[in-house]
Amino acid sequence: MGPLLPLKSALLWFLVIVTAHVTEATGTAGRRTNLTPYETGWGSYANVTQFRSRNTSGPELAAGPEPGDLAVSFKVPTLDGEFSYRPGSLRGPLVVHAFTNKSGFLECLWSSESSLTSLVEDLPDSTQVLFLSLDDSAVSDALWMREQLQRAAIHRKEVLSRLHFSPVPVFALGNWIPNVLYYWGCTGHNCGLSQAVFTSKGWNMPIVVKRLDARYDWLMARWGPASYSLIDAGDGCGPSASVMSAVAWVSEGGCSFFTKVQNMAKSNASGVLVYSLPGNPIQDMNCVGDECYSPLSIPAAMVHQEPSVAEALRFGQLVNVSFQTTPSPNFFISIDQQGALAEMGWFLYPSFSFINWQAQWFDFSADLHSKLSRPAKVVSVFDKVIMQGENGAVATVDLPLDLTDSDTLELDASLSCPGRRDSSCAQWDHTVQLFVCCEHLSPYCNMELGRWITAFRRGIGRWLTDVSPLMPLLDSSKCTFSMKTVPWAMPWIVSLNLRFSVSNRTGNLVEKLRPFRVTSLYSGGTFDKNYNKRYQPIKFPIPSSTKKVELFAVITGHGSDENGCGEFCITSHHFLINAVYNNSRIFDSAGTALGCAMRVKEGAVPNEHGTWLYGRGGWCDGLQVNPWRIDITKQLNISGFESNTIIYFGLFDGRDPNPTQQPGYIIMSSFLIFYK
Ligand SMILES: *[C@@H]1O[C@H](CO)[C@@H](O)[C@H](O)[C@H]1NC(C)=O
Ligand SMILES: *[C@@H]1O[C@H](CO)[C@@H](O)[C@H](O)[C@H]1NC(C)=O
Ligand SMILES: *[C@@H]1O[C@H](CO)[C@@H](O)[C@H](O)[C@H]1NC(C)=O
Ligand SMILES: *[C@@H]1O[C@H](CO)[C@@H](O)[C@H](O)[C@H]1NC(C)=O
Ligand SMILES: *[C@@H]1O[C@H](CO)[C@@H](O)[C@H](O)[C@H]1NC(C)=O
Ligand SMILES: *[C@@H]1O[C@H](CO)[C@@H](O)[C@H](O)[C@H]1NC(C)=O
Ligand SMILES: *[C@@H]1O[C@H](CO)[C@@H](O)[C@H](O)[C@H]1NC(C)=O
Ligand SMILES: *[C@@H]1O[C@H](CO)[C@@H](O)[C@H](O)[C@H]1NC(C)=O
Repeated sequence: MGPLLPLKSALLWFLVIVTAHVTEATGTAGRRTNLTPYETGWGSYANVTQFRSRNTSGPELAAGPEPGDLAVSFKVPTLDGEFSYRPGSLRGPLVVHAFTNKSGFLECLWSSESSLTSLVEDLPDSTQVLFLSLDDSAVSDALWMREQLQRAAIHRKEVLSRLHFSPVPVFALGNWIPNVLYYWGCTGHNCGLSQAVFTSKGWNMPIVVKRLDARYDWLMARWGPASYSLIDAGDGCGPSASVMSAVAWVSEGGCSFFTKVQNMAKSNASGVLVYSLPGNPIQDMNCVGDECYSPLSIPAAMVHQEPSVAEALRFGQLVNVSFQTTPSPNFFISIDQQGALAEMGWFLYPSFSFINWQAQWFDFSADLHSKLSRPAKVVSVFDKVIMQGENGAVATVDLPLDLTDSDTLELDASLSCPGRRDSSCAQWDHTVQLFVCCEHLSPYCNMELGRWITAFRRGIGRWLTDVSPLMPLLDSSKCTFSMKTVPWAMPWIVSLNLRFSVSNRTGNLVEKLRPFRVTSLYSGGTFDKNYNKRYQPIKFPIPSSTKKVELFAVITGHGSDENGCGEFCITSHHFLINAVYNNSRIFDSAGTALGCAMRVKEGAVPNEHGTWLYGRGGWCDGLQVNPWRIDITKQLNISGFESNTIIYFGLFDGRDPNPTQQPGYIIMSSFLIFYK
């Protein structure tokens, strides 16, 4: 049983509904009737068995619908009439959000101007959002939510037609939505009620209030199960001798959140509770600018001012505080373009941007499906195979006998999880590499054909990567593929198809060239002061009949020295040809706050755990590593007998790396590709 069951009658919303104007299904305004809920079918009950599982081989025994199951039709009364969903009735995805003011996270999500603005300004055109309330206060919640967004949408009114607000509380909807919200309950950021519990001798009941912990990626320390004594420390803008081993009770204002927490940490407090000034909402406590470089090691949370607590402290009574999280229904679910139920992932902090990112990914996914329906010779390498341990996933497959008419090779790869929920997915963002060997004695045996990074606790990733220049690696009709990540990672379920096709370019002769030889160049290594000393120039002849030469490299930076190298520092990679031509690849979004969030449109899996949003050295969590390709034909002495030379070097901040602690490393495959 969930914690949010109604205590009061829901009479009020009935009054509103009965007098509401009901408009026709998909929003075509006009037809106005005054119907009761039952006459319009709002009362018809959820029927779990209506969810057709995509697994048709067995009877449907699930306790409820799971991600991937098809969503059936439903209707919900809204402030403007009615929202009606039928499979296929929407152009794009539908996000369903259930609000409760019992959550500090949601209060902040709905109060923060930047959060509201991000929704109205950046919600993808394809996407609709249905806003619900979990509580008795659904009518006023719906009106308030609409007002918040109307105010924010002053410059983009168009978006309001895609936002729907229901005055009917979730517990009274009478369709399948409550079932999914409750069945998908969790205790992550986007569900669960984080609370502070105050006790004092004079009270016969504890006082339980909502709290919002300081942002995870700033202040990683978490509350323990202990009961702490609570000590008033004013506004926390100066040190306080009395808070040692206690939780400091500190008011908003006077100095930054960071300064308050830092002062209390220096005073040896066990944690900090910042209370908002009267009338102010709970805010997302974060660091600003340089503050973010000073790590703090105590937990902190924001709550509302609680008069009984303030009074008890004023009169010198002992007050204790402890911390708990009460499970709740999920606050966010969705239906994707294909009509399947989908999870929304993890909201790292209270911002509607996380809805936008998931919606952008739905658009990416719909586009990917249309790309995958184009004609191609498809060779299945892995079909939902477990990848784990030293060997990873291994398969030997026959290639089509005649590939001479194909000039394009794409890898269609996906990484899903042992269960149907993201909660069954492996943690961390690890490198996944695909190696191929077709001929044991071939110099091409066990070269890297593709690279991806796992999505931290999300199982939706699917990517199409063009590796056409590496077609010569497939130098026999039977090839063995192995795909692996670090051996200690939890299992992933991999699927991989090779897609051979003809590129859709007409006329241009140059484009019809085919790669016929691949020369392996450099690989990476420890990114320390000797990094570049390990590389020597390579002289290479150009085979006769070569018409074009390309440099092809897959480069990623990992690890963390004192500069964050190579994952979060700006490294650059240079291939100098004939001592003159400096071909450079610079990872200049590494370490930026949203470098990888900006790549969701390209398929980076959104709303993962961890800090998936930050830019990284040549990669993102939950994304393929795009090969870097550059035509170097004009840089070479292509005819004649002179040899050409190439040398690689990698720099941090334009100089040789020179870390003083735990150097990072570069993983690199690089090739010259010869075309004729
Ligand atoms: C639920 O759906 C199944 C399959 O469509 C149907 O046989 C059954 O009668 C439904 N039950 C109710 C209570 O509507
Ligand atoms: C489908 O359901 C059957 C029977 O319940 C089960 O044995 C099988 O493993 C399921 N397959 C998948 C892919 O979930
Ligand atoms: C949410 O709760 C806070 C206090 O807990 C209150 O100040 C605020 O007005 C409430 N907001 C809504 C929309 O009810
Ligand atoms: C209050 O907190 C103090 C300090 O952590 C602890 O020793 C004490 O047992 C707590 N009292 C109660 C009633 O939890
Ligand atoms: C905090 O604790 C440290 C280590 O125990 C101690 O050196 C320091 O004096 C304490 N600071 C205060 C203000 O109590
Ligand atoms: C090739 O591209 C053109 C223009 O973009 C498009 O109209 C056509 O359908 C494409 N053909 C194939 C086979 O994809
Ligand atoms: C070709 O080689 C000659 C002699 O080594 C050199 O002078 C010239 O710059 C080279 N051309 C290119 C395009 O590298
Ligand atoms: C190549 O370019 C990088 C920066 O773009 C520069 O730091 C480096 O010195 C250049 N190297 C040569 C040999 O020109």
